[in-house]
Amino acid sequence: MYFTHLKAAIFAIKLTSTASEIQALFDRIAPVYDQLNDWLSLGQHRVWKLMTVKWIDPTPGDVVLDLCCGSGDLAQRLARCVGITGEVTGVDFSPAQLAIARQRCQPDPPICWVEADACNLPFEDGYFDGATIGYGLRNVTDIPCCLQELHRVLKPRAQAAILDFHKPAQPFMRHFQQWYLETIVVPATQHLGLGEDYAYIAPSLDQFPTGSQQVNLARQAGFASATHYPIAGGIMGVLVLRKA
Ligand SMILES: C[S@@+](CC[C@H](N)C(=O)[O-])C[C@H]1O[C@@H](n2cnc3c(N)ncnc32)[C@H](O)[C@@H]1O
Repeated sequence: MYFTHLKAAIFAIKLTSTASEIQALFDRIAPVYDQLNDWLSLGQHRVWKLMTVKWIDPTPGDVVLDLCCGSGDLAQRLARCVGITGEVTGVDFSPAQLAIARQRCQPDPPICWVEADACNLPFEDGYFDGATIGYGLRNVTDIPCCLQELHRVLKPRAQAAILDFHKPAQPFMRHFQQWYLETIVVPATQHLGLGEDYAYIAPSLDQFPTGSQQVNLARQAGFASATHYPIAGGIMGVLVLRKA
């Protein structure tokens, strides 16, 4: 009962969330974000992020983007693939997340951290050979705009891989996901005073387009190919995109 009310309240907040409210939320959780990712996913987020990087298959010398980079997990993995001849840029609008990313990745590998909005990227058209987004698309206030910007900054034939939560098709997995978010994630984060911040995941997932809807949005944004792959029993998914 408590969680139903909490979910409804957070859902209402989420519906009216502005970019600055979302930015403030990620600034707030920045100090514990990485540790909670490890605890709450039992380390599995590392595997899912590795899969995401594999999907765009960056090679030495590539110029790549990690959009909504947060504390820089994916950017760091990309940097290992592109090497010293390549270039990695991590973009996020949360100064606190970027500060942690800068700290974590010092002195190597060199990554360019940029504070910017995913809907207004400060890069020229066709700049990147590839891009990733980890758990960011669900959080942007304007998904079509973010996908259009992503499409704009990619080179022709470049690929992007977008990892995020996903609503499983199977009722059992859907119930498991709801149970896990409500019974494990929210209480665990309540101890750190962040219960409400993490309770936003369930309603944000309710609002997030399904895999096939994401594919349609990506095509509308101009991508020539778009495929959504459910992973981890469908509780996560990777949207893989290619520009014409
Ligand atoms: C859940 S975190 C994911 C961080 C990291 N990519 C990871 O996988 O661990 C989502 C990130 O998206 C960022 N974000 C949300 N909306 C954004 C926007 N419109 N522009 C830039 N960053 C945004 C937040 O600040 C936050 O750091």
